[in-house]
This record gives sequence, structure tokens and C-alpha cells, in this order.
Amino acid sequence: MNNINDISVYQMQVESFLQSSLATAFDDTELWQSIKYTLTVQGKRIRPVLVLMAAKMLSVSTDKVSKFLLAIEYLHNSSLIHDDLPALDNDDYRRGKPTCHKVYGESTALLAGDALIVKAFSLITEAVELEDSEKVKLISLLTETFYKICLGQVLDLKKYNESLISLENRKKALEFKQLNKTAALITTCLLGVFLLSSVSKDTVGKKNIISAGQNLGLLFQATDDILDSVKDEISGVSKDEQNGIDTYVTIFGLEKTKQIACDLAEKTKKALDYFGEKAGELKNFVDFILYRKV
Ligand code: IPE
Ligand code: IPE
Ligand code: MG
Ligand code: MG
Ligand code: MG
Repeated sequence: MNNINDISVYQMQVESFLQSSLATAFDDTELWQSIKYTLTVQGKRIRPVLVLMAAKMLSVSTDKVSKFLLAIEYLHNSSLIHDDLPALDNDDYRRGKPTCHKVYGESTALLAGDALIVKAFSLITEAVELEDSEKVKLISLLTETFYKICLGQVLDLKKYNESLISLENRKKALEFKQLNKTAALITTCLLGVFLLSSVSKDTVGKKNIISAGQNLGLLFQATDDILDSVKDEISGVSKDEQNGIDTYVTIFGLEKTKQIACDLAEKTKKALDYFGEKAGELKNFVDFILYRKV
């Protein structure tokens, strides 16, 4: 896989799984409309694509991970609905379209986020493709991960008082925040598949999967911060700067952040080396994340 066209094959596969899940589930209420609105405004589907690539690398069937990848995308979308609410980032647009609360109102959006969380877990509990013991492993991993997202999101709302906290401590706090807020779910995409694979007992393999996921997750957030760092034409500062939120760019500046992103990409690939030639596609995907423009 060397270009966006190769990724789009996986993205199309994800869209097709998503469409089937939407066609069979739910009802015609406003709650469901708001969920459907969010899930069908096209995201990049990075996380479910990662699940599919990891499944190929670890020889787990697509069928086996089909509900897991949907659960991940449901949880991700729930976190985005909540992230955009006025109580958090207060954003009016996402993926070029009005945010869920702008279309359906704050109360419905809040509840749509909640409903997506439980529906994600129903996908796993009802999966005929999974053994009961596999369901328990995935549910336990996903609950732990969603707690980490909440923790990271709370930390992301904290403004730092530069006179009270040293730069060194802000850097440490930034990495801890991003590991929870973003890298936890990205790690889970790889780790969940690993747990379903025939090599799930390989402790060194597990260490490398977690390392690849965490470094890729940090890389993903660093590139998100780079893309978000565009300065507002009127205020002359980015939204994160305006809100006093620490990101890679507000702490390190744009050029250093680009260097950090390259280092994180290298660390991810190094961890993936453990899986030999079969990791080639995932390694190319790391570069796709590093150089992404959206
Ligand atoms: C945005 O994630 C939220 C972050 C964790 C930075 P994505 O950029 O993957 O969002 P979509 O799903 O593609 O819109
Ligand atoms: C959101 O991070 C991360 C989660 C939803 C967990 P951001 O606030 O940086 O994401 P964007 O920039 O709004 O997509
Ligand atoms: Mg946010
Ligand atoms: Mg946001
Ligand atoms: Mg952002």
C-alpha cells in the first residue's frame, strides 16, 4: 500500500460494514436521526482501517473483527459529539458539516453520544462471530479505553498557568493527556485484534503492539495539532492558543512538532518490525498519518 487509493479500498470496506449496521439497527426517532447524521457524515475511518490492517497482519479474519471495528467507530463518534459540545470545545462544524448539537440541539446531542456508547457495546455482545470469552476480552478492553478517553478529555479542558507549572512538567502532562485522549483508542484498535489472534499469549508481541499503538496515537494527535494550528484571521492565534489549551504546537512550536511527529513515526515502525514482512502495509499507513493533510 503506497497511496491513498490503497487506503480507500479499506475505507470502502468500512463504509459497507457501517451501512449494514445502520440498515438493520435502531428506529426512526430524533435520537436515531442524530446518531445516523453523525455516523454518515464521512470521517476518515482511520481506526476501523487500522483494525482491518492489523487483522491482515495477524491473520485474523475480517469477519471476526467486523463488529469490533464498528464498535470502535461508534465510540470514536460518540467522543466527537461530546467533544464539540459547548461545555467542551464548543465547535460548530465537524467534517465540513454543522456539528450534531448545531443540528439537533445540545440535549439530543448529549444523549446521542451516550446512546452511541451503549450501542457500541451491544455490537460486541450480539456478535455471532465472537466466542463469549472473546466478547469479555473486548468489552473489558473497550471500557478501560473509554475511561481513558474521558480522563484525557477532562485534562484537555485544563488551562495551564505558565507561572505555576514548569515547561518540563507541562511536556510530561501533555504526553500523559494525549496518551489517554487519543492514543488509547488507537492502541485498542491494534491490541483488540492481537487479543483475538493465535499469538495473543506472546508477551513480547503484546509489548510491541502496545508500543506501536501508543506511538501511532501520539503521532496522530501531533498531526491533528499541526492541522488545528492554523491561525484565526481576526485574532491571529489558533483556537487552542485562544483557549489556553496545551497541544504539541502550543508547547513546542510548529517546526519542533513536525520533528516530534517524524520521531514518533519511526518509533511506531520500529515496534512493528517485530511482525516482519506482514507489517509492511501498516508501516506505510504510519507514513500516511505522518503526511496527512486532513
Ligand atoms: C479527530 O479524529 C479527533 C482526534 C482524536 C484528534 P479523526 O481526525 O480521526 O476524525 P474523523 O473521524 O476522521 O472525522
Ligand atoms: C478530541 O480531540 C479527542 C477526542 C474526541 C477524544 P480534539 O478536540 O483535538 O479533536 P478535534 O480537533 O476537535 O477533532
Ligand atoms: Mg477537544
Ligand atoms: Mg475538538
Ligand atoms: Mg484537535
